[in-house]
Amino acid sequence: MIKPFTSKISTPDGRLTPHHNHIQRTLSTMKGQYADQPAYQAMLAQGDQLIYEVYENRLAEIPGELQHGTSIVHPGKVGNEYFMTKGHFHNVLETAEVYYCLQGVGYMMMETPEGEWAAEELAPGVVLYVPPRWAHRSINVGRQDLVTFFIYPGDAGHDYGTIETRGFRKIIVEQDGQPLVMDNPAWLE
Ligand code: F6R
Ligand code: ZN
Repeated sequence: MIKPFTSKISTPDGRLTPHHNHIQRTLSTMKGQYADQPAYQAMLAQGDQLIYEVYENRLAEIPGELQHGTSIVHPGKVGNEYFMTKGHFHNVLETAEVYYCLQGVGYMMMETPEGEWAAEELAPGVVLYVPPRWAHRSINVGRQDLVTFFIYPGDAGHDYGTIETRGFRKIIVEQDGQPLVMDNPAWLE
């Protein structure tokens, strides 16, 4: 049986110490996710930039456990669309997740298989509840790292394929210096 343990989140980088996994996602892993494909290709030609990182404590994939860690989305844009995570549904659709924002400003873009969508603002101190069934993607609309702490059921798992194929219904772009939620032109019904 696992013993109680602690880990510490450092600021401002959001690093979790100690951790089991450190995931680093670069631009090339986000193929087809950004609406402006020419801008994506042009940026990739300049180098495979780091977009976001995750530090996680991996527990057994059983319902009683709680996976947890930190997510750090770096600032930047592809064309006029802000840096973001891939986003996913949980494999076990009926599992929720809680996010606590530690630093930066952004949005959590969410949608259900039934077609509902929501974009909730993230800023330091905000606790976000992502209910069961809602796909979720963090988007950094600020100039510093967007750092969140997350916690979700041990057996939830991740379905990335649905979002990779269809995208999210809505995207967030910068217009006149402000974030704007708009329809995703590449969304597949
Ligand atoms: C776990 C969860 C977060 C994300 C992280 C990176 O269920 O929602 O830990 O995994 O923010 O995003 P993705 O997993 O979409 O690459
Ligand atoms: Zn999740």
